[in-house]
Amino acid sequence: MGPSRRQQLTIRKGYAPLERREAILVLDFGSQYSRLITRRVRECQVYSELVPATTTLAQLQQNTHLDIKGIILSGGPASVYDADAPTCDPAILHSGIPVLGICYGMQLLAQQLGGRVVHTSEQREYGPATIEVLAEAAQDAQTFRIFAGITASPEQTIELDQPQNEDVGAGLPRPSPIYRPEGWGEADSPPNVDAPLRLPVWMSHGDSVAQLPPDFKVLACTENNPVAAIANPQGIVGLQFHPEVTHTPQGKEIIRNFLFRICGCTPAWTTGSVIEEAIEQIRQRVGQARVICGLSGGVDSAVAALLVHRAVGDQLTCVLVDTGCLRAGEREQVVETFSTHLHIPLVVIDARQRFLTRLAGIIDPEQKRKIIGEEFIRIFEETAEQNVLVPLAGTLSGGQVSRGIAFLAQGTLYPDVIESTSHDTAATATRIKTHHNVGGLPEEMNLHLVEPLRMLFKDEVREIGLALDLPEEWVWRHPFPGPGLAIRIIGAVDEQRLAILRAADAIVIDEIRRAGIYRELGQAFAVLTPLQSVGVMGDERTYANVVAVRAVTTGDFMTADWARLPADLLARISHRIVNEVPGVNRVVYDITSKPPATIEWE
Ligand code: XMP
Repeated sequence: MGPSRRQQLTIRKGYAPLERREAILVLDFGSQYSRLITRRVRECQVYSELVPATTTLAQLQQNTHLDIKGIILSGGPASVYDADAPTCDPAILHSGIPVLGICYGMQLLAQQLGGRVVHTSEQREYGPATIEVLAEAAQDAQTFRIFAGITASPEQTIELDQPQNEDVGAGLPRPSPIYRPEGWGEADSPPNVDAPLRLPVWMSHGDSVAQLPPDFKVLACTENNPVAAIANPQGIVGLQFHPEVTHTPQGKEIIRNFLFRICGCTPAWTTGSVIEEAIEQIRQRVGQARVICGLSGGVDSAVAALLVHRAVGDQLTCVLVDTGCLRAGEREQVVETFSTHLHIPLVVIDARQRFLTRLAGIIDPEQKRKIIGEEFIRIFEETAEQNVLVPLAGTLSGGQVSRGIAFLAQGTLYPDVIESTSHDTAATATRIKTHHNVGGLPEEMNLHLVEPLRMLFKDEVREIGLALDLPEEWVWRHPFPGPGLAIRIIGAVDEQRLAILRAADAIVIDEIRRAGIYRELGQAFAVLTPLQSVGVMGDERTYANVVAVRAVTTGDFMTADWARLPADLLARISHRIVNEVPGVNRVVYDITSKPPATIEWE
């Protein structure tokens, strides 16, 4: 492909699903739990997407591929009384589609449907609370569907319901018969039929509903708040607490009730169906064209490659660019797994010198990212041009035929998409780092993107990986950033510093694996700081590098806590690094959570 053919191609994202898919849409009012709601829904095998709170019903319905079965209004930091409080398109609330409002979402729907919300600053509830589901509310089965079949566990019943007087029925579970689980007979009912159902939940709110909208009933209350859950018979439900967090043990059941009893969803979003659909979409999009997929050694690019390979077979060539910023043994492992184990064509491009030259003297982390992102794309383009990929006539999904089109497959995940399209209406998060698999692509590039994981969360990607025979070790690998070790060397990157970091990092991972806690950690690695410190080795004074060890536990990488690694493990890591890695005489452990720090140091 000569320069004359280099044109700015529209990067077409998104794929046409094969048939209308049932979906629950989550309107994001800015809660830290918004995406968790989407994940919980998907865990119940119903497809769900997070959309900005300002999306109107008409806009939602423009996506004709989705059969919208229900809408969830997330929580959010605003109060309905704030001057610029986000609202929900009233048409949504009057559409007949079931709606679940959580926390702020409940207050919003109550207010928008004619109820009244009051500011209850002195009765704020944050953190654990207990709701009491009202026995009389259960009489109206239609309105009560959100709590149907829900029971307290025996432990909760004992904990919450245990009589103070230890001698009567002590230790016996006392589930309320009204909420008896399916399959329980009368004989299972304890004698106390009036016992209220109390459930532990997670609260966080300052406002509460003081007057119900017409047709609504109160389903639950707390000690401080007479309105903790409301519903109408048409399937509009408000919950003052967060069913999506694990601190609400019955939360998943409550979400299931919304999905299956109220919205009438079918659990069709399964790993098998996701794989089938992704393969079909890739085929439609790519046609006869060639695809290249950059492998990073991480699970995302590996699963993207596996899906593309299943879809278009040998039209795919995987490319491993050795940037010189890979970890110890990474290049060999990728070759072993892809060429030998999975039999997927793989080209290894040794670009170490090229990257090192461009990175020489660069200190600014964002500039490092930009350079690496650009260089990657240029290498992929050149690879396509140099007949490693024979350019074939390709068909785009629009039917337009174009010669020599190559696609670039990327393992972009849904959280990256959410982040880069900034759904958060309540003050969009400032871009903290440009994650190059989304943000750092050059504006002009000669490759079309194919991103089969674009709508998936990490745990879904892992399941697909397992289903497609990716070795377990890969499936559970910690994420590794695209710019690699370059952003773990604080300051300028050169061959010598890379060698030091690579050796130290290998020791960290080796010891963590030996200790059997690799899977418990979200990420663990070494960082080469720009500090030199004084030390003593034998009788000699040393003045050498300080290596930092970072290990975090995290669910979604948006927040993280530093891992409380056992002291003897830290001791072994430190001892080995200082003894085995020339040029290092001090090891420190990073004890900062995210926020305020980030996981990576750059
Ligand atoms: P931070 O450091 O922002 O990292 O807390 C969150 C997650 O993102 C990864 N990360 C990157 N991944 N390109 C990537 O592909 C990047 O530039 C980049 N920066 C951070 C990081 O490893 C962690 O998993």
